[in-house]
Amino acid sequence: MMQISAAHGFAHDDRGNLLLGGFPAASLAKEFGTPLLVLDEDRFRENCRAYREAFARFYPKYEVIYASKALCVLATCQLAHEEGLAIDVASGGELFTALRAGVPAQRIFFHGNNKTPEELRYALSQSVGRIIVDNFTELSLLAELAKETGKTAHILLRITPGIEPRTHRAIQTGGVDSKFGFDLNNGSALEATQKTLDSPHLALHGFHCHIGSQILELEPFEQAAEVMMDFLARINREVGFLAEELNLGGGLGIRYLHTDEPPSIASYIQVLAQRVKAKAHQHGLPLPILMVEPGRSIVGPAGVTLYTVGTIKRIPGVRTYASVDGGMYENPRPALYAARYEAVVADRLFETPTEEYAIAGRCCESGDVLIWEASLPPLNPGDLVAVFATGAYTYSMASNYNRFPRPAVVLVGRGRARLIVERETYEDLVRKDIPLPKE
Ligand code: LLP
Repeated sequence: MMQISAAHGFAHDDRGNLLLGGFPAASLAKEFGTPLLVLDEDRFRENCRAYREAFARFYPKYEVIYASKALCVLATCQLAHEEGLAIDVASGGELFTALRAGVPAQRIFFHGNNKTPEELRYALSQSVGRIIVDNFTELSLLAELAKETGKTAHILLRITPGIEPRTHRAIQTGGVDSKFGFDLNNGSALEATQKTLDSPHLALHGFHCHIGSQILELEPFEQAAEVMMDFLARINREVGFLAEELNLGGGLGIRYLHTDEPPSIASYIQVLAQRVKAKAHQHGLPLPILMVEPGRSIVGPAGVTLYTVGTIKRIPGVRTYASVDGGMYENPRPALYAARYEAVVADRLFETPTEEYAIAGRCCESGDVLIWEASLPPLNPGDLVAVFATGAYTYSMASNYNRFPRPAVVLVGRGRARLIVERETYEDLVRKDIPLPKE
């Protein structure tokens, strides 16, 4: 199991204890309880830096924007901001969180295909850096609200470039049949540009696209960069507008299984930079400020979830279920996307896996299985299981299904283990409920 933890970038001590930010996993579980999402501070920071360092090597003008949806809590917004990243928010709630974390409004990019008038007013009143406008309804609404509030809305237009990378359908976003963005090929993108330029209350800075998530090849990103640069050239020719900013979204995949081979952050940025430069040269355009919006590749690999094993059910000749104290309420990805994960027994890394288990959650659904085939040494109730690469889209997608309280999140590293989100209590669960009066 050592090989598995090493493949995920985590060390162990000489007795086979998994170390997270220098702490034995078992001691974190003891102090903070399970299930527990543990975030490695250095990993998070290194991933932020890897983006900025790659840009510094390959491209002169850039912005790295943390897609906070991957894990939007005060501490992650603070860390990303400290590391020089801007913050992408996709709702009023994420915007509120980023502002509360002390991120200057100017450093915030506001996304969403159905921002409400209230959310847009909120964004305008705070003077967020950029609003990424998704569709014609929003374009006219925003122009109206900007006029009404006497503010100028600084915007990017989200373009659907018509690229379908190989990933789960639910997280493909750049294809023609998508709820997001202005279509590049049917004239919508051009029309939206013209409309924006015609409005005195909208300041257009450039264009955005996002082709999908957990993408493990570079080609679709290269394609998107080229298609978007061709679009910038066309807009320049046909409308006379020169875009200063090109935001290519997020989507770089990460290692969930030790056999996954995601491209490095550096190689990803390098190919984007190359394509954009080559196209700028070809079209005789100045280089735009190049932006990316990574979420998963920043916070995903930094996270490990710790669980305590409870019941074990052996069905001879069929399967053995080992149920843990979490499940789809705190990590819905296996149930939603058939996402796969790897696990180890956190204090027995030197033991050889001889058994196969289905690691089940405790929600009332047969589909609540976190890992269908985990190779592990024989498990006993009370064992501590660690699941890797759980930093992104787990806690941020967690619910209270079956009224399970959401887990705690702890930030480890630099000699400290600090709670950044408290575990919910039963009281929290009924806090918003209003009982019927006694008749
Ligand atoms: N920018 C935009 C406009 C996005 O929609 C997203 C992700 C990102 C950036 C960040 O993408 P990333 O670098 O994290 O791939 N819940 C799904 C993933 C949904 C991604 C949605 N948008 C999952 O658990 O796999």
